[in-house]
Amino acid sequence: MKKLDKNEKIVFYPGSFDPFTIGHYDVIKRASKIFDKVIVGVLFNINKKYFIDKEDRTNLIKKTVKPLKNVEVVSFNGLLVDYLQKRDIKIVLRGLRAVSDFEYEFQMALMNRGLNSEIETFFMVTSACFSYISSTIIKEILIHNGDISNLVPGPVFNYLSKNRERLLKDRFSNGKKKI
Ligand code: PNS
Repeated sequence: MKKLDKNEKIVFYPGSFDPFTIGHYDVIKRASKIFDKVIVGVLFNINKKYFIDKEDRTNLIKKTVKPLKNVEVVSFNGLLVDYLQKRDIKIVLRGLRAVSDFEYEFQMALMNRGLNSEIETFFMVTSACFSYISSTIIKEILIHNGDISNLVPGPVFNYLSKNRERLLKDRFSNGKKKI
């Protein structure tokens, strides 16, 4: 775990990123111009089944954000506030696409502040052209073999195209749905 510079304005952008979309990338690019450092936190919750495993989700984001020199990508599990405390980070970033996101995001922001009063959540309104994109919809399109080339960054598109069969087989194994 890298030691952080106390003088830098650091923001933590947590998510499942299952998969990482161009909407997520847009939020990171814009935040990287505002904050000194953006740390993308890929959640690994042991009780949840993901479409893409933690290592691949993390590596795909690393590949995508490589041109952005002030962006770091990590994976984390457990409570977000615990991870933030360990690294002495106080600001969380979340993207807002539509009113429908608001209730959940509001609840999470209040819960995180309730758990640690020092945590503030910053919301970045998504670019209008990406407002309809979600990881869930992308998985649905992929399942039906639709075109996702304009919805995910290049490295994610290549990975999903190459691994589609295996991911779908895993998703439907044990009769369990993993969307
Ligand atoms: O991309 P997502 O799935 O909408 O991101 C949700 C995420 C990862 C931000 C949220 O589930 C989270 O922070 N999980 C970590 C566990 C935790 O702290 N839960 C309480 C938050 S109110």
